[in-house]
Amino acid sequence: MNIIHYAVNHRSHTMAAKKLVYPAADRNKDPILSVLKRYIQRGTNQTFLEISSGSGQHMAHFAPHFPHVTFYPSEYEPRLLSSIAAYANGYSNIKNPLRIDITTDFRMWGDGIFKPNSLEYIYNANMMHISPYQCTIGLFINAGQLLKPNGLLITYGPYAFDGQITPQSNVNFNESLKSQDPSWGLRDVTDLKKLAEENDIKLIEIVDMPANNKTIIWKKYMHS
Ligand SMILES: C[S@@+](CC[C@H](N)C(=O)[O-])C[C@H]1O[C@@H](n2cnc3c(N)ncnc32)[C@H](O)[C@@H]1O
Repeated sequence: MNIIHYAVNHRSHTMAAKKLVYPAADRNKDPILSVLKRYIQRGTNQTFLEISSGSGQHMAHFAPHFPHVTFYPSEYEPRLLSSIAAYANGYSNIKNPLRIDITTDFRMWGDGIFKPNSLEYIYNANMMHISPYQCTIGLFINAGQLLKPNGLLITYGPYAFDGQITPQSNVNFNESLKSQDPSWGLRDVTDLKKLAEENDIKLIEIVDMPANNKTIIWKKYMHS
């Protein structure tokens, strides 16, 4: 019993020391928060699911501003879950991180914790271009099923438009991503709009962000 007790204490102690810091997330968390403030409604009992939370910095930055929203962080990489949990620690409206592979069906996540048409918000930053396109497809398929009618999918990152990438720094970034993994690369908003439509989602706003990024707001159709 003592050994178990020690293990639990030891784990919570090391978790506190495991907060990873992504410099980009530190830079972009305030501009993204400004966009969220325009879109997150007042009211009660709203649910916000983050796909690929990375270090966990974004959610811990956003959650105190929206005490009426319950935040669910998630990650594909098991090694990142302890950093996300460390950031979430102390916030009553952030749940423990779930392990989610976005290419799988949402019914498999967290023992079926999410019901169809049940979420107000799904948020995803910087995953689409740094993962195979199958992840982007999975994001829209699952969002189409999980979001309530009028629910929002909010995505952040650099994008291509009608086959064009601008400026040159984003062209270079795209090339460096593809040299690391040919299945990575900036996604084209024209393709994303088609994928969204196939899943009862429409693009409603593209917000210019610092460092040639965009926040894109997608809305689930009312009729579904
Ligand atoms: C560049 S990081 C972005 C992390 C964080 N959202 C941010 O903006 O700092 C890309 C993330 O995509 C995640 N990812 C890769 N494949 C995935 C999958 N199949 N399902 C969900 N997330 C995935 C990675 O684990 C990684 O955390």
